[in-house]
Amino acid sequence: MCTQQRKLTIIILVVASIGVVALTPGTFASSGDDTLNEQLSAVLRQHGFTGRVGLSLEQRLGRKIDNQLADLGRLAFHDSLLGLNDDNSCAGCHAAPLGFGDSQSIAIGVENNNIVGPDRIGPRNQRRAPIVLNNVFFPALMWNSRFNSVSGNPFDNSAGFQFPLPEGFSLSALPHLLTAQAFIPTTEKPEMTGFHPSVPGTNDGIRAAVVDRLNANGEYRKLFGQNFPEVKSGAPVIYEMLARAIAEFEFTLVFANAPIDKFARGQKNAMTDDEKRGALIFFGSGNCVSCHAVSGQSNEMFSDFRQHVAGIPQIAPAVGNVTFDGPGANEDFGLEQVTGNPNDRYAFRTSPLRNLALQPTFFHNGCFTRLEDAVRYHLDAIGSAPSYNPVAAGLDADLQGPQGPMAPVLARIAPALATPVTLSSDEFRQLIAFLRTGLLDPKANAHDLRKLIPARVPSGRPVHDFQ
Ligand code: HEC
Ligand code: HEC
Repeated sequence: MCTQQRKLTIIILVVASIGVVALTPGTFASSGDDTLNEQLSAVLRQHGFTGRVGLSLEQRLGRKIDNQLADLGRLAFHDSLLGLNDDNSCAGCHAAPLGFGDSQSIAIGVENNNIVGPDRIGPRNQRRAPIVLNNVFFPALMWNSRFNSVSGNPFDNSAGFQFPLPEGFSLSALPHLLTAQAFIPTTEKPEMTGFHPSVPGTNDGIRAAVVDRLNANGEYRKLFGQNFPEVKSGAPVIYEMLARAIAEFEFTLVFANAPIDKFARGQKNAMTDDEKRGALIFFGSGNCVSCHAVSGQSNEMFSDFRQHVAGIPQIAPAVGNVTFDGPGANEDFGLEQVTGNPNDRYAFRTSPLRNLALQPTFFHNGCFTRLEDAVRYHLDAIGSAPSYNPVAAGLDADLQGPQGPMAPVLARIAPALATPVTLSSDEFRQLIAFLRTGLLDPKANAHDLRKLIPARVPSGRPVHDFQ
């Protein structure tokens, strides 16, 4: 800086500070941006939010991503060869353009019409498939956290990976929780396996049948051979190799560079004023962060990965292939299904909120199709439940039938959600702006994600029809 510039800067600084002194505290709002930035920075610091979790992937894995293995996983993820019913792949429920989330309110698995999108039809399962972005950082998976890393860290198997029986702790030697998780969907009858009498009677039997298919396919043998030298020298593909490939693909699906992350890393103009004000509500008066946590084992994922009763409407499909809970078979008992403890009834995992904007439906059963409606309900579930209307919520015709009972659900609602959060219309708009765009990694957009759908899969079967 030359002397003249420095003199000028000093003059400006002096003028500026005189200006500040001259202002009364009330007029301080005119320097709104700085105040807002200060407030938000302080709140993020207080919660330990760094905006750097996405950058920590390879360090936490302890190695580089293996892109060749991930690409094999991507192909397998989209191939119905993995489904013994021959009509579904992971991608049938986890659709690339939707952030590998569900096109449906409640997933449709086997006996589908090969369409992935609004026109998918078939018998429904019980819940909505969550998006599979950033799952590498989730210490507990599924709506009831039934797959979890006991250490609280999905990268650390030292205390074991806990699954319901029959798996129990048997998948604990695998390197990451997602590698362990990849052992499960192919064994789920309503999702991929089907109910044909020829289906093997045990999960291990089903997995053996799936790898038999891979071993009988020259192209898969070649691809696994490129990744696992023992296969190249003639050894069979084993299920663990498939699981490693699928998990590696999921490791590449890190989209954690949202405006809030950039802001936290110092780029103050990365967020709009509305998003910043919405964030202050989220972390402050709205107390959303008490459940949608970012600190510690939350890995900045906006979930405490615990279950709470949020008082969500109970919807049940007209035609399904999973028996629902309760006397009317129209309820979902959530965490109780895992623990057997009636105190856990209706409790579901706090939804991680990153890239929420990609989802066509919300909550564990997709009972809302517009984010505004979902949040308005969530701000006052007790007050909103009586007027919930599946038609107005935009649900498909087969989900518009009578709902499961709400009184027992609301009787158990989490204390933090029992008192309504009252927001002005401006505040509501700001909160939505934060949720919709403040938490969205711009790279996670339908156009780019769609490119991850392979043109063809190694089995040579047709790829699903993605709408
Ligand atoms: C029939 C639809 C369907 C298919 C097929 C399917 N999933 Fe899912 N997936 C779901 C549903 C529904 C859930 C949530 C279930 C629950 O919580 O009870 C889920 C949950 C997950 C989760 C946990 C996400 C989270 O936020 O905790 C991962 C990871 C996942 N699936 C990966 C896969 C993989 C890999 C495959 C293929 C091998 C697959 N899924 C096949 C429907 C499906
Ligand atoms: C007591 C804990 C708790 C608090 C407080 C809380 N939430 Fe939630 N939130 C949940 C749970 C649990 C779910 C999932 C409920 C379900 O689907 O059954 C959820 C779901 C959501 C969803 C739907 C996400 C999806 O994937 O469908 C949004 C959006 C959301 N919360 C935003 C908020 C906001 C904004 C606040 C603050 C005003 C807030 N939450 C306060 C526990 C909480």
